[in-house]
Amino acid sequence: MTNTENTLNAEKTQNLVNLTIDGKPVSVPHGTSVIEAAKKIGSKIPHFCWHPGLSVAGVCRLCMVKIEGNPKLQIGCNTQVTEGMKVETKHQEAKEAQKWALEFHLVNHPLDCPTCDQAGECKLQDYYMQVGRYDSQVNEEKVLKPKALDVGTELILDTERCILCSRCVRFEDQVSKTSSLGIFNRGDHSQIGLIPGRRIEHNYSYNLVDICPVGAFTARDFRFKCRVWFLEKTKTTCPGCSTGCSVSVFGNKMEREYYRLKPEVDHEVNGHWMCDYGRKMYKHCNASARQSVPQKNGTPVDWNRITNELVQELTKARNKKVALVLTPQYTNEEYALVLSSIKQILGTTPTVFIWRPETENPTEFDGVLFRGDHNANTKGLERALSQANIQAEIIRGNIEPLKNANPDLTIVLGPEIEMAYGNIENTLQSLSKLSNVVYFGVTLSDTTKQFSLTVPTKVFVEKNGTYLNYNSMPRKLIANAPVFSQIMGLDDMFAAALQRIEQ
Ligand code: SF4
Ligand code: SF4
Ligand code: FES
Repeated sequence: MTNTENTLNAEKTQNLVNLTIDGKPVSVPHGTSVIEAAKKIGSKIPHFCWHPGLSVAGVCRLCMVKIEGNPKLQIGCNTQVTEGMKVETKHQEAKEAQKWALEFHLVNHPLDCPTCDQAGECKLQDYYMQVGRYDSQVNEEKVLKPKALDVGTELILDTERCILCSRCVRFEDQVSKTSSLGIFNRGDHSQIGLIPGRRIEHNYSYNLVDICPVGAFTARDFRFKCRVWFLEKTKTTCPGCSTGCSVSVFGNKMEREYYRLKPEVDHEVNGHWMCDYGRKMYKHCNASARQSVPQKNGTPVDWNRITNELVQELTKARNKKVALVLTPQYTNEEYALVLSSIKQILGTTPTVFIWRPETENPTEFDGVLFRGDHNANTKGLERALSQANIQAEIIRGNIEPLKNANPDLTIVLGPEIEMAYGNIENTLQSLSKLSNVVYFGVTLSDTTKQFSLTVPTKVFVEKNGTYLNYNSMPRKLIANAPVFSQIMGLDDMFAAALQRIEQ
């Protein structure tokens, strides 16, 4: 457990310590560090090596504060609060110390900012403006170190940019527990590097890019793709597995393109981290990966027409056999709406099937965050079916049970994250042999063109709604600016269908 987690637990059970920081009174639990207590009242103490999800190292010496009665400045990250303590984070002595600590960090730092992916999010840049603004007194040549090292499938390491804060070393030791990194040599030749014979090849490697306060670790997936100041972020939930981590999706509105996901702090679910599999969850949202135009027997049709066609298919199927195939990747609200709308239009409940990946181990857990159920809303689908009093049969790859039901009409809500379904093409091929299929899905292929109707669907970044995670905890989706604003959500589509039936 990290210091912050200890503090949060302590807050519930322990006596509070009263102190003042920058003249403001604050009460925090025993064991809280000065840096955390200051955060609580909005006093931001500059820091490089301290991270709330890792143990304290106390190596960067940037977080200097003045404490009344103490002849020397103290580091805020490794000093615990005491009753009646008076802390000044902006005392002239503290400010001088922070300024010179920063200059030491920059002595050997290369002037890479114009080409560095961290520019715009770099703590060296931010702190220079906040507490630096000195005229450099350094005339010596900078120490050169290896750049652009291949340290793992997802990462590139520039050792010259590293300020030796050791966050990455502690992450490898304490979170991923892979211990692949170390700091080697002495003095100004100290250098971050791989332990001989190791590489960073685990499912949490992108967190190293997030926690590195400078641009030493960069992600191959994001390097040189977009300057960060063109990106806007929206907080939402990762749809990659049943954990449901809190994340932000970053997109460039002008380009209508998503570029990356990052974790949001959520102490109840994912703490400070997310997995590398989840980082890919923006790719299927971009235009290059999506169908945007509905199809009737492989011919593009407009949205007005496709809604009419859906109404016609459903009304023709009244008093006939209708199958509804659901995947556990839609929101609770979508399940409730689709189940009730179809029942209302047909006058009866269709036969429901749950389509799950051909091979999966849904109870698997890697001990950190990632779960073997790569569907975000298995629990939500189960609850929706139970509330509607529906018993559903599971199909995996083999659609025999569906074929045996001999439906006159089959409506399929295909998976949003198709890569979770392995060779999805096998199942699509089998579905295409059924007589009359309406398929809702994200991508268009030669196989999906064979369905009677193929309807593009919104993806998680374009939806407001909820999932239930593996623990039945509601996880919230918040719609971002959609890449395809013209795509109708299931809510609008079924609302329009119901309206036409009533007319
Ligand atoms: S690579 Fe980054 S996180 Fe690791 S020690 Fe250097 S600056 Fe810190
Ligand atoms: S653990 Fe699951 S929910 Fe969390 S980031 Fe990874 S894929 Fe997404
Ligand atoms: S943050 Fe306190 S010494 Fe680095």
